Amino acid sequence: MTTDRRSFLARLSGAVLGAGVLTRLAGVQAALAQELAGLDFRAGDARALARLRDAYLLDERLLYLNHASIGTTPAAVVEAHTAYLRVCESHPSLYVWGEVWRAALEEIRSRAAVLMDCAPDDLAVTHNTTEGFSVLAHGLPLDRGDEVLFTVLNHAGASEAWQVLAATRGFRVRRVELPLEDAAGWSERDVVDLHLDALRPETRVLVLPHIDNMIGLRHPVDAIARAARARGVEFVLVDGAQAVGMVPVSLAEMGVDAYATSAHKWLQAPKGLGLFYVSPALRERLPRMWFKTPPHHLGAGARAYEDYSTRAWPAVVALGDALSFQAALGEGEKARRYEMLWRQIREAVDAHPGLRWRSPRSWRLGSMIMAVEVVGRDAPALAEQLLEEEGVVMRAFPPPLNTLRIAPNLAVQDDALQRFLQRLG
Ligand SMILES: Cc1ncc(COP(=O)(O)O)c(C=O)c1O
Repeated sequence: MTTDRRSFLARLSGAVLGAGVLTRLAGVQAALAQELAGLDFRAGDARALARLRDAYLLDERLLYLNHASIGTTPAAVVEAHTAYLRVCESHPSLYVWGEVWRAALEEIRSRAAVLMDCAPDDLAVTHNTTEGFSVLAHGLPLDRGDEVLFTVLNHAGASEAWQVLAATRGFRVRRVELPLEDAAGWSERDVVDLHLDALRPETRVLVLPHIDNMIGLRHPVDAIARAARARGVEFVLVDGAQAVGMVPVSLAEMGVDAYATSAHKWLQAPKGLGLFYVSPALRERLPRMWFKTPPHHLGAGARAYEDYSTRAWPAVVALGDALSFQAALGEGEKARRYEMLWRQIREAVDAHPGLRWRSPRSWRLGSMIMAVEVVGRDAPALAEQLLEEEGVVMRAFPPPLNTLRIAPNLAVQDDALQRFLQRLG
């Protein structure tokens, strides 16, 4: 073999190209940190907000209040993703099975674990929340007659697998109603009691959203989990699709058995990525669902739940850039900006005689998912009209809730939001 050919092959070795990819990742992260440093969102500084808005690719004719359905991905993250796709397509059979991306994946797992306050070994990098709940409903050790319980606030992605598999696996599923018309007045104690009152002796599994997608109730998960366990519930499983990236999440404090989330909502990652926490104790009892790697080569911990074989590695690596973008915004700064936005919106709704606030009234139980009733109007029809006439993107829920769902991220422009609220009703 000629020297040239040998060095060409050496350059194509995973290690060399892998290192190149990682260097590029670090470069993107440094550029992002510089671009975003010094933006003071707390003050609601219009220039800072305009700069932040320009960091996204969103069509400027839209007022996007639909982060709870799907997030907007920052341009820098899209560019990083595109760069990784180009690397991948330069030699697909080298890149598509992932060896060269492994180090980046492990770095991402560690950073996601810091964000969610758990150990890296506890996290699998999956595709979405629905996948986590599918693994749970397929594999959780349940006997005939055991009950899986959730409330009306549980999303289909965390409910449907149980409903479908109940017949073949023999467990029972019960979905309880909640008096959502009273939600604005709920206290933390009320929310805990509503869950405890729904338990029965046969309830072995409690599934709940950290933040639901209809009224945005931030469930006091740790208090509910503690109380439910004291009543004999064996597994507490949490849907974090609407929480990670929006509010602080501490799995260490929550003490739950599993927590599944999607990175394409509030973490603003490329679409089709999720994180799945499985506690060490549950991992002993929860079989994996995908099989490519022989057990003795399988990575430790929750990595067993992501044994996909071929996967979209460029998107996975760009999750690292999405985490960097969020980190550059600053967790404390984000929390303050979100709370400020929430207060502004609630006050504007309270001041308007034609509007009614239908979400919890305290920020502690609230979130950036806000349910607003426009008195005397059909919410879904109104949402359609607002989209057509004013480019406002929102989801609406039909009666009996009959609410518009306002779910902005922190880049929303305050003046546009205020103008929209004034015109409502
Ligand atoms: C609370 C909640 N859980 C789960 C899901 C499902 O998410 P995914 O489609 O990413 O699995 C959603 C999606 O909107 C959601 O709002």
